[in-house]
Amino acid sequence: MRKKIVAGNWKMNKTLQEGVALATELKEILAAEKPNCEVIIGTPFIHLATLSELLNDSVIAVSAENCANKESGAYTGEVSAAMVKSTGAEYVILGHSERREYYHETPEILKEKVDLALANGLKVIFCIGESLAEREANKQEAVCKAELEGSVFHLTPEQWKNIVIAYEPIWAIGTGKTATAEQAEEIHAYIRKCVADVYGAQAADDTTILYGGSCKASNAPELFGKPDIDGGLIGGASLKAPDFKGIIDAWK
Ligand code: PGA
Repeated sequence: MRKKIVAGNWKMNKTLQEGVALATELKEILAAEKPNCEVIIGTPFIHLATLSELLNDSVIAVSAENCANKESGAYTGEVSAAMVKSTGAEYVILGHSERREYYHETPEILKEKVDLALANGLKVIFCIGESLAEREANKQEAVCKAELEGSVFHLTPEQWKNIVIAYEPIWAIGTGKTATAEQAEEIHAYIRKCVADVYGAQAADDTTILYGGSCKASNAPELFGKPDIDGGLIGGASLKAPDFKGIIDAWK
């Protein structure tokens, strides 16, 4: 059975102190009431070591939001996959549309990052999704397939076990516009078919595919109720413990 996951993506929010306060609050809430899914929080690099230690004895796993596409050396300001791993983080989010757009991360660069993340023992939450113009031109399937082919479909079946896919339509990220549960299910089923074509039906069935884009407590139950939606990657609503908990509760 594939894992159900609710993962937060804090993006560029929270000072170290604010992050510790939020993680502590979440830890306490989830210790009192065990979640019915895996819970991950994706945070800026500066939080990783502190939160990995703080959450070590909790049900919450920690994820980075990025890592370098180089192993080590003279790359001022970059953080390698090995460094992320050394903090105790288990996951790294790669391929987010904000990184593709604002930091010009190409499929080739992302492929290098994915390879380094896996080589260093991290699991990858790999994001794909179409823009509004692409959706209006009915190109969402072609875009998602190309993003998978460009950066992750070269992996071996063994490596694939450490990949979680996050489908995030760009037009729904931070806009308050959610894809309808039907729209999301349709493309999730298509993504799973693409995975089956490369890795076989069993691997596809075992692959966790998250939905992201204005997911909140009010729409999560309907989204997560669909057969091919295995949870969410949550931006805005992961920044307050009660909001995030509301989404986790959708799995109850
Ligand atoms: P949002 O962001 O929930 O704020 O729309 C989701 C994401 O970008 O991961």
